[in-house]
Amino acid sequence: MNVLIVYAHPEPRSLNGALKDFAVQHLRAAGHAVQVSDLYAMEWNATLAASEIPERVHHRADILREQEKLRWADTVIFQFPLWWFSMPAIMKGWVERVYTLGFGYGVGEHSDRRWGDRYGEGTLSGKRAMLVVTAGGWESHYSPRGINGAVDELLFPIHHGILYYPGMEVLPPFLVYKARSMGEQRFAAITEQLGQRLDTLATTPPIPYRRQNHGDYDIPAMILKADIAPAASGFAAHLA
Ligand SMILES: Cc1cc2nc3c(=O)[nH]c(=O)nc-3n(C[C@H](O)[C@H](O)[C@H](O)COP(=O)(O)O)c2cc1C
Repeated sequence: MNVLIVYAHPEPRSLNGALKDFAVQHLRAAGHAVQVSDLYAMEWNATLAASEIPERVHHRADILREQEKLRWADTVIFQFPLWWFSMPAIMKGWVERVYTLGFGYGVGEHSDRRWGDRYGEGTLSGKRAMLVVTAGGWESHYSPRGINGAVDELLFPIHHGILYYPGMEVLPPFLVYKARSMGEQRFAAITEQLGQRLDTLATTPPIPYRRQNHGDYDIPAMILKADIAPAASGFAAHLA
């Protein structure tokens, strides 16, 4: 399997650095090919330029290289520390620049039966994606009634809007809470669990998001049909 790890942390000697190094070694030892986009080390330009907005698009070499890595990958892992309830800005800027018109969005025909290739279909369909996220907060803080908001809801814009949108199947995330209190023993237990998730990348059932063009939504309003999960609303309504 070809695995791309898109990784954002400025400090190689961080927990994230150690988890990324572990993942690379573990995957290679299992016979997989691994590429890492280490965004800070690459000094990734996270700012979409005027020449890159769709009307006057000019794709720079750095964007084309990342698109090539995505095409190469069977599985894409996005690894980052949770910063202000989301991915670090450098990774958001990677998405903004790499997901160009005709690649990340604006793919496929629009008609009264389908609204482009997106949400389960698109350039990256057939690939799997997984987030590896560390957070300073506790698991309870991110539980369904926790003050930080339920983690599934916090991650929905990334899972559904960034990974599922261009077609990837989204695996449940690997989360490390209380990431600032990390002893040797805890680190060993966490890498053991991460190793199991890496060993089952190809077989773990993805999050069952509804597909856009398979009958659940009214097109072009893109609202769930009245008879589909009538009591459901919000993010959870898009789970089949
Ligand atoms: C700028 C910044 C923003 C942060 N925002 C959050 C946050 O929103 N929620 C949270 O649980 N932890 C937050 N943290 C804590 C980090 O998630 C935590 O320090 C990190 O996951 C630890 O991993 P590391 O040692 O590899 O950096 C933040 C840390 C920084 C530096």
